Amino acid sequence: MDRTAALLAHLSDGAWHSGQVLADALGLSRTAVWKQVRQLRRQGVELEADPGTGYRIANAFVPLDGAAIVAALDAPTAARLRDAVDVVQEVDSTNSVLMRTVMEQPGPRALLAEQQTRGRGRRGRAWQAGFGASLCLSLHWPLTQPAAGLSGLSLAVGIAVADALQEMHGISPRLKWPNDILVDGRKLGGVLIEMAGDPLGPCEVVIGIGLNVQLPAALRASIDQPVIDLVQCGVESVDRNRLAAAILGSVNGTLELFEREGFAAFQAAWRALDALHGYPVDLLLDTQRQTGVARGVDAHGRLLVDHEDRRRAWASGDVSIRVAGS
Ligand code: BTN
Repeated sequence: MDRTAALLAHLSDGAWHSGQVLADALGLSRTAVWKQVRQLRRQGVELEADPGTGYRIANAFVPLDGAAIVAALDAPTAARLRDAVDVVQEVDSTNSVLMRTVMEQPGPRALLAEQQTRGRGRRGRAWQAGFGASLCLSLHWPLTQPAAGLSGLSLAVGIAVADALQEMHGISPRLKWPNDILVDGRKLGGVLIEMAGDPLGPCEVVIGIGLNVQLPAALRASIDQPVIDLVQCGVESVDRNRLAAAILGSVNGTLELFEREGFAAFQAAWRALDALHGYPVDLLLDTQRQTGVARGVDAHGRLLVDHEDRRRAWASGDVSIRVAGS
């Protein structure tokens, strides 16, 4: 564990810690502790400093811990991921890290980070996360199907995440095609799937999952769409290690079913969670906008939209979508 991570581990309980006690515990001078505090602030951690009392982190959190995640996995998922869950403090993007090595290192393997400096969302957008305040999780998984058969995978993974949130925290998110996880119409999380390997043969997928856990107010204000986090959803204390394990378990089951039966096996579950069904929508294509009414998805996970003249099926790579007027 590096110095910054060690300091954070001490502070993560949210209590006040005197500079001297921290210095003694970490084997550092008080000046070195102060430098580490500045470093954490640069990484976006909200830290209070009081000359008489010491330091306190604004939002307590349980640090990510690979061993704790593995210990909480269900048996079938542990059989696949026991030696393949890594946690890092900071990376550009957990998806980018796994994509850089996807052809050299065998999957399945999972990577989680406390912070991403260049987190990525769908269609080239940025994904903002707060240090210790989000769940940033990527999973490299080898699949026997060719990439062409994977339309709908992102929807199936969204269902898996929604199921894990329901089971663990009693939250009932809705899903906005193709990959937004919403509560009360605000974005709680998203899924980003990338593929590598032979487009006609077995392929490697990297599944990125981002969830807002307890976003600092400043970060929430800097995001250009309505967002919500788990604490705002009423979850009092989030153990991200147990949550990550629950999500990995749910995604593992989903991938097995998806490999056997494709997206068709998830169509009914999607219908129950579909946030767009029956709503007028604007479809944003590269240079134009089309309107229609969303009518669910087909057996490949394509969005069905009734336009004035006819019904069309849209693939997720082609469009971005808004509820009309929002
Ligand atoms: C979206 O809603 O557009 C998708 C967001 C996906 C964010 C996750 S966080 C972990 C992984 N690493 C990334 O850079 N992106 C995904």
